[in-house]
Amino acid sequence: MRSAKDFFRPLAVGAPAPVREVPLRPSRMIHFFDPGNEKMAAKVPSLAPQVDVLLGNLEDAVPADRKEAARLGLVKTARATDFGDTQLWTRINSLDSPWVLDDLLTLVPEIGDKLDVVMVPKVEGAQDIHYVDRLLAQLEAKAGLGRPILVHAILETATGVANVEEIAGASPRMQGISLGPADLAASRRMKTTRVGGGHPGYLVRADPAPAADGGADAPRPTFQQDLWHYTIARMVDACAAHGILPYYGPFGDIQDVTACEDQFRNAFLLGCVGAWSLHPAQIAIAKRVFSPSPQDVAWARRVIAAMGDGTGAVMIDGKMQDDATYKQCLVVADLADALAA
Ligand code: GLV
Ligand code: MG
Repeated sequence: MRSAKDFFRPLAVGAPAPVREVPLRPSRMIHFFDPGNEKMAAKVPSLAPQVDVLLGNLEDAVPADRKEAARLGLVKTARATDFGDTQLWTRINSLDSPWVLDDLLTLVPEIGDKLDVVMVPKVEGAQDIHYVDRLLAQLEAKAGLGRPILVHAILETATGVANVEEIAGASPRMQGISLGPADLAASRRMKTTRVGGGHPGYLVRADPAPAADGGADAPRPTFQQDLWHYTIARMVDACAAHGILPYYGPFGDIQDVTACEDQFRNAFLLGCVGAWSLHPAQIAIAKRVFSPSPQDVAWARRVIAAMGDGTGAVMIDGKMQDDATYKQCLVVADLADALAA
């Protein structure tokens, strides 16, 4: 049986592309914790089995005078914890900050054997990835690490969005890209003051519907629009073209679980494989949203079975299926298989 990977492997144009398997371990939620916060760090061992990825955050939300404590807290927590199948990631400080060099100089030799992915914030172009790539290669060689640490970029500046394709293809270490809606809003000079999600002012209004009797016009429904649609779609295309994984980032209104779920689901339907969870309440949302529903999986398997070798066309329940819907169904079925493995 063919798998979705047969259809979605990036094409090598010109010089042969480095062959590298993106790890297929699930990463539906990248759960952030502050490693300098002892109470939070103490919960890591019990949190690890509940999430796909645990990320020790060193960047924004960690005050300047706590950067060193966060870095050392991450070393301590990583050394003391058995993460099982859960991935350990870190978000280092931005490349123009005074802390990032010490982040990498400390983390790679101390816990490089446990770190799966380094998330790099405010990436503006391929040069930022090249810099981290070379530094990691030197530090890994010095530490005698046999397994490369992968790199994840946050798309959160207007320049980064303009360069997203070159960022996605900048290194064989690239694991994926997350949308960073809060910094991106500031970089674009958007007039919002929130972390992700929609805005009640960003809407379209239905045309006026004049009353037939010449009286007052009927009320005009409004529809809130998705502020992030364009960027997510652009990021997904860049990631798909380079065989890496796209993610929605943070949703800051922890209490609005409904809007969080909507935002995550839109991202899932557009091609993202996961999102950040900033609070335990968002873990279950991400798990639910980024796992295909049993109904969708059953339907996908039905289409795959009916399509035989995947060519031609069949009618199922009055709906036409062909080679292209077969490929869509393989994506859903493969995801279900990967999550069940
Ligand atoms: C995340 O880092 C964001 O800026 O949204
Ligand atoms: Mg940010």
